[in-house]
Amino acid sequence: MSESCITLQLHHICVSPFLLSQEKLQEISARLKKNMIQGLGKHTHHKAPVKMLPTFVRATPDGTEKGDFLALDLGGTNFRVLYVRVMEEEQKVLKMDSQICAIPQDIMRGTGEQLFDHIAACLADFLDSQNLKGQTLPLGFTFSFPCEQIEIDKSILIHWTKGFSCSEVEGKDVVKLLRDAIHRRADYDIGSVAMVNDTVGTMMSCGYKDQSCEIGMIIGTGTNACYMEEMKNVKRVEGEDGRMCINTEWGGFGDDGSLEDIQTQFDVVVDKTSINPGIHIFEKMISGMYLGEIVRLLLVKLTEDKLLFKGKTSEALLTPGRFETRFISEIEEQDRGLKNCQNILTELGLKWDSVDVRLVRLVCDTVSIRSAHLCAAALATIVNRIRENRGLDYLKTTVGVDGTVYRKHPNFSDKLQAMVHRLAPNCSITFLVSEDGSGKGAAMVTAVAHLVLLTLNCKLTQDQSM
Ligand code: GLC
Repeated sequence: MSESCITLQLHHICVSPFLLSQEKLQEISARLKKNMIQGLGKHTHHKAPVKMLPTFVRATPDGTEKGDFLALDLGGTNFRVLYVRVMEEEQKVLKMDSQICAIPQDIMRGTGEQLFDHIAACLADFLDSQNLKGQTLPLGFTFSFPCEQIEIDKSILIHWTKGFSCSEVEGKDVVKLLRDAIHRRADYDIGSVAMVNDTVGTMMSCGYKDQSCEIGMIIGTGTNACYMEEMKNVKRVEGEDGRMCINTEWGGFGDDGSLEDIQTQFDVVVDKTSINPGIHIFEKMISGMYLGEIVRLLLVKLTEDKLLFKGKTSEALLTPGRFETRFISEIEEQDRGLKNCQNILTELGLKWDSVDVRLVRLVCDTVSIRSAHLCAAALATIVNRIRENRGLDYLKTTVGVDGTVYRKHPNFSDKLQAMVHRLAPNCSITFLVSEDGSGKGAAMVTAVAHLVLLTLNCKLTQDQSM
């Protein structure tokens, strides 16, 4: 088969189903907007796929936060424990130590008690190593899953997302499960606890640098965003004045079937074979936990159709999860991309020629551009909403961003930003990558969360169920 003939067929199978025109993205944005309003509504919330969870965070940081804190960060493949001292002046972090504990797969999918015992044990080790066991420090808990926040220290897990599926946690108060695990050990204790979603943490940590940061976005293992919504629109919480940060949980967009028209056969397989079929459809088209698998399924199909590797597959290519999302970033690197691609294909036991290498790169491009454009549509929905909420002709705002896909992919952020610009022409957006990588972000989150804990002044209205 000639290269042009292969490219044509490849286009038909893999490129065109992933191409979303600007009009289509506008339509998707309009659907998300409807879903967001549904999620905010008192009587429509319980059925809404986009949960729009009130966080009780009423303001972004003002820079007066200080103190000694512990921070926990659970949400990706690792679990992090931190000890931080924040000074008032310029929020200088005086001292910061941290430890990363892996969460083995059997714990991610075991019982809730096992998970929280594991967390409590990691925290104990860390406190030992820091000589802190005798102190009772306030703790900021970044828990990156959809939670119904009843109060800042009472947060009910709605359902697990990403790779977790521990039993006996959904529907329960996560802070209580953590405290129970610590009490079971009885060798140390913690003070007040403040729970935050990672999007909220990102927004708040970036808020120190830039006071106009009022959106937090994550594109990593999962994807999600939060933003400051007018209280009068947050129908589930009493009060009309001011603003509240809403954790959108936009990953759940499409869980009512509303994205079926853009789901490809590969997305359907990724969802069906995941540990939580039907949950977080939008996230499964976008985030790091799934992108590699979408590419793998495409490569398998193209090999079956004899468009790649002369029709010869390999055991590795046929193994779910073997094509890692980081390979996409490596393959798309400007200078070394093709060389990286050759090495990866060889590692996967495939016999390639130069046409294969270019086609594999095209597949990666296609999948990552769709992801960036879908995120752009979702972010445009939020910025357009903030602008309309405030009756402005033009909005200038800042988005705090974090997550491996956004940080590590060579051109994801450019693609995303260019498309948001087209979808939200009346908004000028500054993108600020959170410094969480250095740990500073987490420190700030804890400080702010502690402050939030002290200043909390509203609760969910009574009749709310999840
Ligand atoms: C998943 C979680 C969400 C989190 C996101 C990014 O979508 O449900 O809470 O913010 O991943 O980590």
